[in-house]
Amino acid sequence: MNKLKINTNTVQETMLIGEKLAKMLRAGDVLTLEGELGAGKTTFTKGIAKGLGITRNVSSPTFTIVKEYEGNLPLYHMDVYRLEHSDEDIGFDEYFNGNGVTVVEWASFIEEYLPEHLLNIRINYGEEGSRVLEFTTNSTHFESIVNELP
Ligand SMILES: Nc1ncnc2c1ncn2[C@@H]1O[C@H](COP(=O)(O)OP(=O)(O)O)[C@@H](O)[C@H]1O
Ligand SMILES: [Mg+2]
Repeated sequence: MNKLKINTNTVQETMLIGEKLAKMLRAGDVLTLEGELGAGKTTFTKGIAKGLGITRNVSSPTFTIVKEYEGNLPLYHMDVYRLEHSDEDIGFDEYFNGNGVTVVEWASFIEEYLPEHLLNIRINYGEEGSRVLEFTTNSTHFESIVNELP
């Protein structure tokens, strides 16, 4: 598919895209987030949590690697930054094939464990503090979801 790009100018706008996306997700969906520190990966995940009906505050799981939240669907929120130079498997498959939605920040660091089908969202810094969200997928399921986003 062609990459879909969406510009956001505020934290609220970034969260809103995540929220809209989340409402179309189903159990077993895996989203991978790429982008530099401070790009907005956790912010986007907060939006996803909201869309899944999660009311607890979502914070970065950098030190725990994964945090679970109860919602309409459970959210498994991973930040695998600390696994950059490690090939540790924390039981990824159980999350990816679980009953919830998995969001992986810094997913490129666990490339060998990622499932075949996923939705990748790359967040880049844009002009004057804006962000560019770039959606790429290899699955028709996510393709139809992404088409509903703009
Ligand atoms: N349009 C925007 N979308 C998301 N975050 C933004 C935006 N503009 C500014 N920010 C700021 O960028 C930072 C993003 O932090 P965070 O979501 O923790 O990034 P990451 O998880 O990628 O390291 C926050 O301080 C947020 O306030
Ligand atoms: Mg983060």
